[in-house]
Amino acid sequence: MEKIVSLCKRRGFVFPSSEIYGGFAGVYDFGPLGVELENNLKAQWWKKMVYDRDDIVGLDSSIFMSPRIWEASGHTKGFSDPMAECKKCNTRIRVDKALEAIGVTADEKMSEEEINKLFDAHRADIACEKCGGHDFSEVKKFNLLVKSNLGDFTEQGTDPSYLRGETCQGIYVNYKNVLDSSPMKLPFGIAQIGKAFRNEISPRQFLFRMREFEQMEMQYFTRPEEEMAEYKKLKAYRWNVVLDLGLQEKNLRWKQHENLVFYAKDAWDIEYAFPWGFDELEGIHARGDYDLTQHAKGSGKTLDYFDQDSGERFVPHIIESSGGVGRLFLAVLVDAYREDELNGEPRIYLALEPKIAPVKAMVAPLLKNKPELVEKAKTVRKELQNVHPQIAWDDNGNIGKRYRRQDEIGTPFCITIDFDTLGEKPELKDTVTLRHRDTGEQERLSISDVAERIKNAIAVR
Ligand code: GAP
Repeated sequence: MEKIVSLCKRRGFVFPSSEIYGGFAGVYDFGPLGVELENNLKAQWWKKMVYDRDDIVGLDSSIFMSPRIWEASGHTKGFSDPMAECKKCNTRIRVDKALEAIGVTADEKMSEEEINKLFDAHRADIACEKCGGHDFSEVKKFNLLVKSNLGDFTEQGTDPSYLRGETCQGIYVNYKNVLDSSPMKLPFGIAQIGKAFRNEISPRQFLFRMREFEQMEMQYFTRPEEEMAEYKKLKAYRWNVVLDLGLQEKNLRWKQHENLVFYAKDAWDIEYAFPWGFDELEGIHARGDYDLTQHAKGSGKTLDYFDQDSGERFVPHIIESSGGVGRLFLAVLVDAYREDELNGEPRIYLALEPKIAPVKAMVAPLLKNKPELVEKAKTVRKELQNVHPQIAWDDNGNIGKRYRRQDEIGTPFCITIDFDTLGEKPELKDTVTLRHRDTGEQERLSISDVAERIKNAIAVR
């Protein structure tokens, strides 16, 4: 994990937020390469969840919504994690996670009474991560919604609004708008990518648990009797989409929720083998009619579906797929991180799938002080940028060092322009060397063949 965090900072993938002011916990900034990787992951998700599916449409709802939405959904009361405070140094811990870390099954859904009982039985085994003490306060449920004063002009802030704690509430409250303004019929889905905010008690594990993060959520509306059959299909679909990103299957597994919320029919997570063990990457849940029923009650508006063929009226059931961009980003980096030896020297490289790699290829003149090589290399780069704009230029240092720099950020191809490209050996005129990241192997190809190779490798299917 330390190696990944260090690589992310060193090469401009991820920076800690507000670093020059000493940092800001639970928040991260994505640098020049990070934003490219992030955009590629989101574009891939959007392709699979919207463009490839005639039954799913997109949405971009607002971060701020009526506070009544969060009351109806149950978040103002029930969206909380169990917290205890070290009496010596005031460090706060998330009690369910601290119990899990010592092998005790616990859950954020437990009541205050249940988790206090469990915590009391294991207090002696749980040490404060800062001072090592064992003297904690009693456990309190801490609400994770982030409050704001947007639209609240009372002096005491008695009518707060909230930064959304999950993106899907924006989908539920727009379900009727989408239905009335588009030709969608059940079953159909609405997909959305956007920021969510949670006052996490102890943000940790880098991008895994943040206070500001991005979610990719799709809510699928079904007839009640079709919910579980659609759920099965969605689970299989999401598994294949995750695999298609290049994640190794041995590092993925399914985990069923043991302690279901009262309205849920079934809930499974896709877990990834993070450096600390298998943990949740995304959730696929069968939610019944809870969400639409709650919003119908809260708003006083009917959210029924009218089936024109059968004349029936009913509240659709919902199945959801919900994942975090940050968690996927971290999983992809962990999965691709490699250390090996090439030409007798140790190296680090990222074996990223070309379609998600932030830079698709690097073009370099063999020598930077030969204008004819530089000019030709610039022309080649321009030509390759017709295939994809992310074609890097690097003429700094010896060619081996340049290759290593690209390996470390996962660039799948390096293209070198030398004197043979210019026609020193006439039979090699307009050919270049194409170097492959994972093996370091090189081959001689025409420029148009190189363009074709890159095009095929990065094609999003
Ligand atoms: N609408 C359902 C929902 O929000 P969740 O399990 O709370 O369910 C879904 O969150 C996904 O969002 C998680 O699987 C994870 O990928 C991501 N996520 C949740 N909290 C996160 C956090 N604090 N930091 C980063 N990602 C988070």
